[in-house]
Parts: sequence; C-alpha cells; structure tokens
Amino acid sequence: MSIDTKDIVEEKPGNSTLVDLPSNPNGKKVYLESYGCAMNFSDSEIVASILTKEGYATTYKPQEADLVLINTCSIRDKAEQTVRNKLTQFKGMKRKFNPKMKVGILGCMAERLKTQLLEEEKLVDLVAGPDSYRALPELLKEIDSGQKAVNVLLSRDETYADISPVKLGENGVSSFISITRGCDNMCSFCVVPFTRGRERSRNPETIVQEAKELFEMGFREVTLLGQNVDSYRWNITKKGEVKDDSLPTVSFAQLMMMVAEVNPLLRIRFSTSHPKDLSDEVLYAIKKYDNICNYVHLPVQSGNSEMLKRMNRGYSREWYLNRINAIKTITPECTISTDLIIGFCGETEEEHQDTISLVKEVEFSFAYMYKYSERPKTLAERKYEDDVPEKVKSDRLSEIIDIQRENQRKTHDRFIGLTKEVLVEGPSKKNPDELCGRISENTMVIFPNRDFKAGQYVDVKITAATSATLRGEAIV
Ligand code: SAH
Ligand code: SF4
Ligand code: F3S
Repeated sequence: MSIDTKDIVEEKPGNSTLVDLPSNPNGKKVYLESYGCAMNFSDSEIVASILTKEGYATTYKPQEADLVLINTCSIRDKAEQTVRNKLTQFKGMKRKFNPKMKVGILGCMAERLKTQLLEEEKLVDLVAGPDSYRALPELLKEIDSGQKAVNVLLSRDETYADISPVKLGENGVSSFISITRGCDNMCSFCVVPFTRGRERSRNPETIVQEAKELFEMGFREVTLLGQNVDSYRWNITKKGEVKDDSLPTVSFAQLMMMVAEVNPLLRIRFSTSHPKDLSDEVLYAIKKYDNICNYVHLPVQSGNSEMLKRMNRGYSREWYLNRINAIKTITPECTISTDLIIGFCGETEEEHQDTISLVKEVEFSFAYMYKYSERPKTLAERKYEDDVPEKVKSDRLSEIIDIQRENQRKTHDRFIGLTKEVLVEGPSKKNPDELCGRISENTMVIFPNRDFKAGQYVDVKITAATSATLRGEAIV
C-alpha cells in the first residue's frame, strides 16, 4: 500500500491494496482492493485476517479469483465513480475469464447504498458495511448457496480490538493502528457519520499490544488512526465522568505516551486531529517524547468563521489560529498540515479570501485540497444549496494550490543545511539507487544509498528542497 501524503492533490488517489495472504487454501482465492482513507486500508487488514482463518488463499490476479472484494469510499462523488468504473471492469472480466467469480462490496459505499448496490450493480453478490466484517464467513456461505448477502448493521461497540490484522502491501516499516471507529461530529458536508456510525474507542491494552507486535515484526513507525483521535477516551463518558472507578482512565495523550513507551525506536504519528478537541496535553506529549513525531495534521476546511458555522465544525477562525499558536509555542519544531474544502455552499469571494489569508498566515507544510462535493443525506444537502459554479470552484482551487505550493517550498527550504534523522522506507520510486524516508516532521527525503536498510534510522544532511521533497546526503 502506498498512501502518498506528499503530492498536492485534489482527490486522494484510489489506492489498491493487493493482498498477499499466506498460502492457506480452502481451494478458494480472494482478490481484495481498497479505496479511501487509511482507516479503510486498516479495515482491509482485518478482513484479510478473517478470510485467512476461513482458509482463503490470495491472488494478485482478479481474473483468477473466486472472490473479489472492493473496500469502498463515499467521501466525494468522484470516489464512488471510481468504484463504479472498477465494477464495470470486473463485469467484463467475469464474463470473459471466470463466470463463477463472486463480487463483494465492503466499506462506506456498501453502508451508504445498502441493497441499492445489488439492484444497480447487477454484478454484486455481497454487500458488507464497515461494522459487519465478523459476519463475512456466514455471508460468504450465503453467496455460495446462490443467494445474495447483505449486512450493513452499524454497531455501537465494534472495534475489532481482538483481531490481529494481517499486514498487507505495506513497506514493512510504517503501519497503522485503528484507535477509534465512527464519528459523532456531524460536520454538515460529511458522509462519514452515516457510513461509519457512532464514535467508539478501542481498548488501550489491545492497541499497545498491536504496537508491540508490529515492532517485533520490524515496523518502526505506527500511525494511530481515528476520524477524531483527540476524542479517544477509555473508561470516561462523553461528559468527562469516570465510568468504572476500579479501572484506569486513558485519554488520547496518555494513550500516545503508552504507545511511545513500547520502544524508543518506534515512531508514533496520529491522524486525524480535530481543531475543536486538540488539547495542550497532546502537544506536551509530543514535546516530551522524541519518538512522537513533530507533526500535526489539523484540518481547518475554511478560514472564515461564518463558513465554519455552516460547516458545523464547532470552532471559529480565531479558535483555530489559537490552536496553531499553541502548537507553535509548545512544540515549535512541529510542521502542520491541513485539509481544505473549496467552494462549499454559499462560499463568497470574501470567504474564499479568508481561507487564502489563513493558509498564508499558518504556512502549512502540506494541504489536501478538495472541491466541495455534495453528499446525499448530509446536513448540507438538506439545508444549503451547492451553489458555487464548477468553474469558480476550480479557479479558487487553483489559486489556493499555487499559494500552498509556495508555502511548502518555504517550509522545506528551512531544512536546508540541517542534519535530520530519516527513517528509511525503501528505494526511491524514481531511482532505485536512491533511498527515501521521512523525517519526524513528515517530509520525505531522497538520498543516495550507502547500504542502508529499510527500517534503519540514518542522519541525513539536507542539501536541497522542492515543494514536494527534500534531498540530502547521509552522514556516517
Ligand atoms: N475526520 C477528518 C476528515 C475525514 S474526511 C476530519 O474531521 O478532519 C477527509 C477530508 O475530506 C475532510 O477533512 C474534508 O476536507 C474532505 N471532505 C469531506 N467531505 C467532503 C465533501 N463532501 N466534499 C469535499 N471534501 C470533503
Ligand atoms: Fe467527517 Fe467531521 Fe467526522 Fe471528520 S470530524 S469524519 S469531517 S463528520
Ligand atoms: Fe472514505 Fe469512508 Fe474513509 S467515506 S474517507 S473510506 S471513512
């Protein structure tokens, strides 16, 4: 799997996870492909784990698979279109090579469209939402007996805490651990609360255990994942009351420190922080532990307070800038990245200019920038009109991309001349004689290989920068 966090993109690319499960055949082969966010990729590893136990072997070739599973994303219309196009390809493949092939849709599109997918996409045999993967063995039996199978029940407590994910298509260095599922925030533009259900936190012991296992397998970096990691809480109610006095409570900052204690050679990252909930306690944890990375992804979405109200984000421009100030004061080494939505309902030129001024002021090290895409059933779809013309959305997006590119160049220029610790991920994509790896601040560094191995920490003197990456020379 590669989730590229270093290109300026309008849409995160649809990454495919091609499973390489250990050979353990029940005579059947599965092909699994994933789209969307890191949570979805992490879920695919849970699915792979469940299928391994069922005796499935895997294949990189969908045309020879008995079962094709697509783990889908609904965040923007384009994400859904990509999956529909993919389904058309599988339809052709099934007809041509393998008429017995069964096709299943997992993830957020399965949850959003439910049985509609069976009716619309004649090819689909199985529809399973994000909280129903434990039921996959029974669902597979149903389709084996010639029926269609659907399970889209959302759960209030499923976290798959006890399932050890099978690590898929990763670089063997950097991995993900889900710490919460679902989201209770109801941002007006967002489909996630509908597709992923209520927010719930995972037992901290199982999180620490997974981090230990990953370290023993050779991984040197974990990203703690949740839609809003700052709202992670164990044995604490939403109102902040202790649930059971006889048990310890764990906040997100405490959880991060528990994982950081696993080994000083294991780097900790986290995503996504929510500006309304990012606490100073989290920033002090970053400051205290060298292995908690100097990097915060803090999606702002818009730089205008009225717009943020329409988005139902729960903070104002001033609040956001106050949080940025806290990061810059408590952890001055931290780089900060963000997400932006361009052309949300009713966005005026003035509101757009407020986003531009905020982007200039904060100087983000990276930004994911998206044109607003209306999603069915969301608050925005019911309450506001998607009234910014496509051309205006595109022009505003280009304007912000140019400013952000300049920000990135500036942030990266500051590293020139410094010696930074790089965690080697593997050969550079463009030149196999060079290596690539990230610094704590999350920027990718390319440098000549001198017999270093993936997973090794190497001190690299930074010699040049572009808006996308740094270049350097190893200091040995
Ligand atoms: N939980 C995270 C984000 C999850 S979705 C958070 O709250 O920050 C990732 C990003 O997709 C969001 O930050 C937002 O910028 C973008 N996004 C979500 N819904 C969108 C929509 N309807 N149109 C365009 N972009 C959207
Ligand atoms: Fe969506 Fe908002 Fe939840 Fe993020 S915090 S997943 S944007 S509802
Ligand atoms: Fe997409 Fe679902 Fe993630 S909508 S962004 S796969 S939570």
